Amino acid sequence: MVPPGPPPGHRTHSGSRPVIAQDIAQTLVDPRAYADGKRIDDAFAYLRREAPLEQAQPEGFDPFWVVTRHADILEVERQNELFHNGDRSATLTTIEADRKVREMMGGSPHLVRSLVQMDNPDHMAYRRLTQGWFMPQNLRKLEERIREIARGFIDRMAAQGGRCDFARDVAFLYPLHVIMEVIGVPESDEPRMLKLTQELFGSADPDVNRTGEELGNNANGVDTIQSVVMDFMMYFNGITEDRRARPRDDLASVIANGQVNGAPLGHLEAMSYYIIAATAGHDTTSSTTAGALWALAENPDQFRKVKADPSLIPGLVEESIRWVTPVKHFMRTATADAELAGKKIAQGDWMMLCYPSGNRDEAQFADPFRFDVTRSPNKHVAFGYGAHVCLGQHLARMEMRILWEELLPRLEAVELDGAPRNMVANFVCGPKSVPIRFKMA
Ligand code: HEM
Repeated sequence: MVPPGPPPGHRTHSGSRPVIAQDIAQTLVDPRAYADGKRIDDAFAYLRREAPLEQAQPEGFDPFWVVTRHADILEVERQNELFHNGDRSATLTTIEADRKVREMMGGSPHLVRSLVQMDNPDHMAYRRLTQGWFMPQNLRKLEERIREIARGFIDRMAAQGGRCDFARDVAFLYPLHVIMEVIGVPESDEPRMLKLTQELFGSADPDVNRTGEELGNNANGVDTIQSVVMDFMMYFNGITEDRRARPRDDLASVIANGQVNGAPLGHLEAMSYYIIAATAGHDTTSSTTAGALWALAENPDQFRKVKADPSLIPGLVEESIRWVTPVKHFMRTATADAELAGKKIAQGDWMMLCYPSGNRDEAQFADPFRFDVTRSPNKHVAFGYGAHVCLGQHLARMEMRILWEELLPRLEAVELDGAPRNMVANFVCGPKSVPIRFKMA
């Protein structure tokens, strides 16, 4: 019998064979390696040193280039016409899962079509729709309201009598509340949004996913993710109808009533817009906030420094974003033959941008494994770069700055009260539990 060929839409790799050793290749896609932290850091450190731009082919995956150096990540991101987001899956996907998505989506490799899956001209047109909303000038009007929200969460923390799980009790809830107000989702629906987000990004983590099993990147995982996406869509369908009938001053009204190229947004595109804002809009910031407190508890000198000098708070925010790097990768696809760092990339090749590796690159950061609130410059790539650079970066920074401005003057002392734990995931993730003992003024 003739063995089956590659699935439709897939190309076998042209040019050289993958050279990254199989144990490292497996580590790159293993959600448990990211939860472990050290295992993925060690793999990236090895690659930056020995094979900074080479191909890997973990079992069940098509081969892809692994971009580990800060400078090479910027170089790929800068050339958004040469390296596309949407031609293949924009996130790590097995051959089997990819085949399943294409079956479900009429040949498209994407379950959703948000900015992340778009290229020009659509990307620019769809991004323009909400860009103004996320600019610092517009966000300024939210400052006082966000401060009020932050104070509310800190009061609740203070009332917990000196012990809490900072991830679960503060970091998950505060950015969630902010982005849901921005979108226009009622407070009573926030637990549902949090659960759906964790089921989506934590689909490999038995603690939060729908099945209670470790699913990894396999095709069953696609069914689970698809059912979460459908739940999001059903929810936001209702919001769209409401905002079309009764527009308000919120992001949902912009999406529901917005026009792109002179016509309303397509249904999939509108739903995907809500989904990215409702997921990336808090999970990333929550992970960073939880990771920042973990780092401060482990580095009392840094805690004392920033507590004594509030002008260091923006530095704390930037360093915690670098430290946690909650978005672990995005994929790009070469639209033409190209050369990068002396390597020949063929048209159609898939590339993994490894943000946590770029943010520990010794060529860019002095002593990169040290948490340093005074680090300057701190040109991390945690928000990406170029045309797709994070739309919510100013909001994320502002939320975290305000939280620390309100919390640090009141927080006298903090230490870990048990071992923190990370989410088991390889795309968007960070700490899921940070137990602390603390003293408030
Ligand atoms: C894109 C990280 C917070 C919305 C991205 C990208 C990264 C990222 C790495 C891809 C950039 C690229 O491809 O070059 C982060 C981090 C955050 C954060 C580390 C917090 C610490 C937010 C927030 C929102 C948001 C608060 C609010 C809605 C988006 C959107 C995109 C995006 C819509 C797609 C942009 C595009 O493709 O044009 N983010 N993000 N993010 N982020 Fe964030």
